[in-house]
This record gives sequence, structure tokens and C-alpha cells, in this order.
Amino acid sequence: MGRSSDANPAGVTPEAASLSRIPFSMVETKEVDFLVIGAGIAGLRAAITLAGHGRVLAITKEQLGESNTSYAQGGIAVAMSGADDIAEHWADTRSAGDGLVDREAAEILVAEGPPRVGELLQWGTSFDRSAATGELQRTREGAHSRHRILHANGDATGAEIGRALLARAQTEPAIELMDWCTCTDLVQNDHGRVIGVRLLHRDGARLTVLARAVLLASGGAGEVYSDTTNPSVATGDGIAAAWRAGAAIADMEFYQFHPTAFSLAGAPRFLLSEALRGEGAWLRNDQGERFMERYHPLLELAPRDVVARAITREGMPLPSPAGGPPGVGRPVYLDLRHLAQAQPELELAARFPGISAFLARYGLLLSRDLIPVRPAAHYLMGGVETDRHGRTTLPGLFAAGEVACTGVHGANRLASNSLLEGLVFGARAAEAMLAEPPLDLTHVAPASGGVQASGGVQASADPLRPDAASIASIRRTLQAEMWRDAGLLRDAAGLNRALTCIDELALRARPIDASSSREATELANLLVLARLITRAALAREESRGAHFRNDFPQRDDQNFSKHSVCVGDEPVRFAERVL
Ligand code: SIN
Repeated sequence: MGRSSDANPAGVTPEAASLSRIPFSMVETKEVDFLVIGAGIAGLRAAITLAGHGRVLAITKEQLGESNTSYAQGGIAVAMSGADDIAEHWADTRSAGDGLVDREAAEILVAEGPPRVGELLQWGTSFDRSAATGELQRTREGAHSRHRILHANGDATGAEIGRALLARAQTEPAIELMDWCTCTDLVQNDHGRVIGVRLLHRDGARLTVLARAVLLASGGAGEVYSDTTNPSVATGDGIAAAWRAGAAIADMEFYQFHPTAFSLAGAPRFLLSEALRGEGAWLRNDQGERFMERYHPLLELAPRDVVARAITREGMPLPSPAGGPPGVGRPVYLDLRHLAQAQPELELAARFPGISAFLARYGLLLSRDLIPVRPAAHYLMGGVETDRHGRTTLPGLFAAGEVACTGVHGANRLASNSLLEGLVFGARAAEAMLAEPPLDLTHVAPASGGVQASGGVQASADPLRPDAASIASIRRTLQAEMWRDAGLLRDAAGLNRALTCIDELALRARPIDASSSREATELANLLVLARLITRAALAREESRGAHFRNDFPQRDDQNFSKHSVCVGDEPVRFAERVL
């Protein structure tokens, strides 16, 4: 289960979620027209478009509904009201992205957003409306110049959108949904074209699926870090598989840390939505000081990276007296008590029901208590590089949603633009996939099992049976190291320490057959992600957006107004976008 909650927010029961119509263990190879890896917003939206044009298989690693989409609280940003305008949404997106937003991709995002959200409404997504007028309610989050964020069930927007998309997908007979499948490898032909994937089911059965086009919609990688708002499925599987197959991976140094995850020893890093600050919550340090005044004129609604770093600095231990033991971190709080006069607890609980229910477990009330917070890894701006249609640098392979780097977020994503990106670019990728030629197995090297997987996770020559305890221990060590040395505040010494640690952990993991279990595959993928993030962060010798280097604290447009690109083990290069 995710660390951000202990309940599947989409409310899908395991029984209802077991929708596969394939008797899995009976089949070794299967052919479909289109294959979608992931069933969050991007994957489901793509599958719905593809369904009119052939057989679609959409797979997900856990039960349906368990994806980052389902945990998105605040909402979906879209310029749909008379008072708003897509040009303003574009300008806010661009300014949050700190000089690296791809102009055309962002124009597409804001212009195609309203009709795509219109479809969601037609398909029964129930966004919150004013009881008096029936108008859609809109909130505001950091770095937005307007109230333009639609929300559902108060603070459960992603779960509601996921529910509506899944219900729509389930009406399409051409869509087959298969849960509990880990994608271990991409399958390529002799010309490097991606023609399928290898899957590992939780019951141990293996399946090769061939398709004329494959879409990666497998989400992000918060599990690289010890503190994350993401569910435990977010292990960067799609990015790692694409990298192994030779795809260009871009902007991996840009990891967004959400400023306000719940911070209590032993409790999960539950997301405390930015919408709380949008509705007027303040941040206070352990002296009771409203400290954002010292950091940014937009105070609590400053861009996310600024607020996250400010909280980190306010929470740092005080210098210890010479020779004394190191001090402990100091608490930082969200404070809504001043809102309680205008909105008593009942109203706050109605606006934020999920958050209120979570806090109640720890005896906390939004209207009465200071809520301890700290930043946590939240969203990866980088990923598999794509063009405006989800095409990657590998023929046959597409990507959409958090796994992709469309360039739309630049160095720092504007709050609540991620659901919109999944929706808009999921649909665009699907449209482009329709133009792919039929599956052609002419250029496939003969191999045992008929189809050769290339670029897959490495099976050791002398594989150990995966030992769950050692896999978990390597994973935890990696997460802690990434948090310490490749997290919010970075420098060359720390990043080099992180690379050394990743190398050592990769050595420890080498005897484990990485394709033998979901946990082993995830560990191999997390090691790839950690190395990609750290190498790119070391190469970018400046500070920009979510990437902050203590040793290079200024933005350097002369040298780094470009995207980092990693292909295989080649040195990181900085370039205009490849695609
Ligand atoms: C939040 O509700 O604060 C998260 C929204 C987002 O990450 O865009």
C-alpha cells in the first residue's frame, strides 16, 4: 500500500478489480493492437481513444485504482471560467517552470485542457459545485494568478477522475484491463523498434505481449526517496525500462518536493494539499513566526520549490554548541486556526474530508491544532523524452503522464497541472499510436520463447532466489541516501557520495535475479532512477526550479538554459529538446 494512505482512495475492492479475462498462466505470448502500461489518468484516457480502433490491453501493477492519480488531492487546473483565460494559465505555467517550459507543449496543455475536462464532465466526473448556484467551484494553489483549480469530493479529485475514467473504460469491450502485472522488459525487434513487453504476474506467471504500439503511462518514482507522498507502486518502472532499451531520458534532476506532507514520527507522509494554503492556511516555525514573509512576496502561495526550501531551512537543527551533539530538526506547522472563525471545523472538514479524517487518527483538528509538516518527494518533471504526440526516441514506444517529459513543466511543475497533462497528452499519444504500422515480426531474432526481450532487467548468471529482506534493506538504504544527498538541497560532494552509494548498492543487488519478482524488478528500477537523477543533478551546475545546488545557488542561463538528456551510460548532455 502507498505510504501516503492506507486505503485505496478509489475504493476499488480487490474482487471488483480483478477484471482480467485472460487465464494468465495458460498463455505465454499474446498479441493485441495497442498496449498501455499503467491505468492512471494518462493510461485510461489513452485506452478510451484507442478502443475504437483495435484490441487494447491496459495493465497495472497492483489493483486497479492504485496509482498516483488516485492520490491527487488539490485538483485539476484548467482555464474554463469566463474570468480566466488560457493565456494566463500558460503564463503561470511558464513562470513556475523557471525558464525551461516548452512553449508549444504548454500551449497545447492549456488550449486542449478545457475540451478534455469537458469530456470528463460528460463521462460523469462529479466536480464540486456551489450549492447556491450550481457553478463549478474553483480553488487556487501556489503560483496561480487565479482561482482555476477544479476539485472533487473536497480533496479527492484524482480518485474521482480515476473512478469516472475507469467506469468509461469498462464500457468498452475492446479494452482489457489486467491487474497485478509488473512490466519487466520492453521487447524490441532487430531494428530497435518496440514491439511489446514482458510481464510478470503476482502469481509468478510470465507473459509476453506484442503490440503495434506500446504506451508507457506508468507514473512517477517517489519511492526513490525515503520521504514521499507517492504510493509504493511509484518506482519509475517505465523510465527504467525505456532507458534500458536506449530511449532518451530528459530533465531527471528536476524532482518536485511538495512542501507540506504530514510530519510525525511513525506516521505516513500523507499529502496535506496545497489547497489548504489556497484557502488561506499559514506556515509557522517553532517560534510561532509566519516565516514565508522572509522568503517570497507571494508568501505561502509562492512557487512550490521556494516554499519547500523555506520549510527545510526553518526546520534545520540549530547549530550545536562547540563539541556538543548535533541538534535535532525543528518542527514547522500549517496553521488554519485563524480560518476557524469564518469556517468552523465542520466546514473545514467538509472542504477537506480526506485530510480531516486522516488527521483525526492522530487526534488533530484543522480548526484547533497546528499541523506538523515537512517536504516530501512528490512529482518528477523529467522522464522519457517525448514530442508533442507522446512519441519517444524509440519507434513503437510512446509515453504520457508523469513517466514522460513533454517539457510542459520545465524545471518546476505548476500545481495541479499534472492531472491535466495526463489527460491531454494521454489522448494525444493515443491518436498518434493509431498511425503506427501493423505489428511485423519479420525482424525478430529467433530466440527461445520466440521473441527476444532486449534491454531488460538483468538476470544474474548465478541468480540467488530473491531474498525479500535483503531487497527491502537495499531499497531502504537507497531511499535514505537519495534523501540525504540528492534531495532538496544538493552539492557536488553529496551527489558524488550518492553515486558511490548507488554503485555499492548495485553491487549488493547484482546476485539478485532482477526479473524474478516484482520487488526485485522494482529494486533494479529504483537503482536506475537514482543514478539518472544523481548524474543529471551533478551535471547541472546551477540552481533552477526544483533543482537547488548549494554550491551553485544562482540560475545560469548562459550555460544551462537547456534540457539534460541521458541515453544509456553516455555522459549527460545539455541540449535543446531532441524531439
Ligand atoms: C496538492 O493537492 O497539493 C497536490 C496538487 C499537485 O501536486 O498538483
